[in-house]
Order: sequence, then structure tokens, then C-alpha cells
Amino acid sequence: MQTRIEIPQPDDWHVHLRDDTMLAAVVGYTARRFRYAMVMPNLVPPVTSTSAARGYRSRILAHVPSDAPDFRPLMALYCSPAIDVEDLRSGVDEGTVAAVKYYPAGATTNSGDGGTSMLDFLWLFEALADLGVRLLVHAESTDPSIDIFDREVAFLETELVVVRDRIPELDITVEHVSTRRGVEFVTEHDRVAGTITPHHLTRDRSDLLAEGMRPDLYCKPVINSADDRSALVAVATAADPSFFLGTDSAPHPTTAKYGPRASAGVFNAAYGLEVVAEVFERAGALDRLAAFTSVNGRAVYGVPSPDHHLRLTRTTIDADVASTLTTASGEQVVLFGADEAARWTIESV
Ligand code: DOR
Ligand code: ZN
Repeated sequence: MQTRIEIPQPDDWHVHLRDDTMLAAVVGYTARRFRYAMVMPNLVPPVTSTSAARGYRSRILAHVPSDAPDFRPLMALYCSPAIDVEDLRSGVDEGTVAAVKYYPAGATTNSGDGGTSMLDFLWLFEALADLGVRLLVHAESTDPSIDIFDREVAFLETELVVVRDRIPELDITVEHVSTRRGVEFVTEHDRVAGTITPHHLTRDRSDLLAEGMRPDLYCKPVINSADDRSALVAVATAADPSFFLGTDSAPHPTTAKYGPRASAGVFNAAYGLEVVAEVFERAGALDRLAAFTSVNGRAVYGVPSPDHHLRLTRTTIDADVASTLTTASGEQVVLFGADEAARWTIESV
């Protein structure tokens, strides 16, 4: 039996596009599929000013393929003491800066310039609330005494809740929610939304660790328990307006993945939509897929709706799909979700 559904063109509210040869290799996957993409600023050095964001956006657009003319990268600044509030204000006014992203220092890839306490940035968060600009948060404690699987909850309950209480009018997105408690935190607070990734929706820590450790599933926040995963699936497939797709697509070459210390990140720009479609199909919730991929995020970020749709068809015969890409400098990146992608075809209508 064939399943077919049409959805408005989706958006990716959290993506790492990198720079240089990696940018050139990956941006087409995002640009051909998604209309808007919130581009993360964790380059080296990080994107902390309007001119840096403008420059990065031009480099992205220079690499967008000609068959994806409608792609709109939205730029986030990296929360750091280097941000100047007047520069931020003018970046927002001119339409260059769409959000600010907070990283706890040391929590993940290129987070070394991040914060050691959110309370150090109340001056900036107050300016964001004033401007009506969202604060995007990598919610993960870096306290080494806290178990790695408990670090999202610890961060939410000791740091983010304080910011939220001090500045209740601040709009916040908890990025890549990975736990049941994280889902509850978003649900319990007004003005707080959450992105969810394809990998946190479909894999759990047993997939990561039980049958040979899988570097390609290693990311931050780390994929958590089966119970956490089921809470994510439940809220995503319920069309809850506070939750929407952010792939957290984060390419790393195999040379950085397969070694004594795997880099954190899953590259799922290529097949993330197929992976999510499979989740909704299995949950009997395909009629709510569009809310998660195309509607809720736009309402939260206040961007206009698209004029075209994608048709997704689930086939009974698995197709052959690529499982890696190769950059111009010869590096390979593994494409997450090839099994799911083999079952779906996606076309523009
Ligand atoms: O797994 C991750 N990879 N999590 C992040 O927060 C950053 C990302 C990256 O940039 O590689
Ligand atoms: Zn990320």
C-alpha cells in the first residue's frame, strides 16, 4: 500500500552549515528541501556581530544551488561578551540578525567561547526581550559531577529557569529537546518553545551504545533513554504548537568521527524529513506532520507561509540511496537516515 501526503514546504529551525568546503558540500541539501533555516553561529571564530553574520550569509547564498532560489537562511549571533547591543539592534533592524544562541562553554562543538553562567548575560537577554528577538539555548549543564544523561534537566532546572523568572517577557527556544523533563519544561512555560531533531525522535542510548558504539549517532545533547524518546514522539506527533523541527544537522568528516574521541554531531540535512515522516507514519499521525515541519515554527518566528508544497510518498520497495557525501577536499560525511530515505520519495508540487 502506498501512503501519500502533501505538506507546505518545511523549515529547519536549527542547522549547522559550516564554512568553506564543508559549507559548499552541505548547503544544497538544506536549500533544496527547506524554505527557512536558522543557521547556527558556532564557526571558528564565532559569529558575534552583524557584519560577521552578513558576511556568513553571503557565503551561504553564494553556494546555494540555482534550483533552490527560495531558500532563506536566517542568522543567529553567538551569545558572547563580544556582542554589542547597538550593533545587535541595527542587525535586527536591517533584517540580518534573527536570533541569539547561547552555548554553555565546553558543552559541544565550538562552544569554547560560550558562557559559564547565563546570569552573566542578563544585560543582553533584556535587550533581546526589548527587541522581541528569541534567545536560542543549548540547554546542557557542563558540571562534570552531573551524569551526562541528566545534564539537560540540570541546566533547565538550575539555569534557564532563573533567566525565565528574571525576564518573563523573553522569548526562548530550547534547542534539540532530548528528555521527557525537557518536553515538560517547554510545555509548562509561556513564551518557551522547543525544537526536536530527527535523531532524538528515532534513536535512543541503547542504539548508540548497545551493539558496538556508534559514532554516527553521537551528538550533544546525547541521545537519551527510550522513555525520553517516546515523550518526544508524543509531543511532536500531537501537533503541539510549541514544538517544531530543528534538525541540528551538524556535519563532521569521518576522520573526526571515527577516532579515539568522536566529534558530536549528526548530519541529517539530507534525509531528516524522511526520518520524521517515518516517525509520523508509524504513529498514525501523518495528518499532523505539517504542523511540526512547516507550520508551528513559522508561527513562533513570525515568517510568512510558503507558496509551494512537497509531496511525500512512502513506497513498498526500498530504493538505493547514497549513504555518504564527499567534499571537494576529499572528506567523507555519513548521511543519517538512509534506511528511512529508501522508503520515501519527496517531490515539489
Ligand atoms: O551534536 C552537536 N553538534 N551538538 C551541537 O550542539 C553542536 C553540533 C556541531 O556544531 O557539531
Ligand atoms: Zn546545534
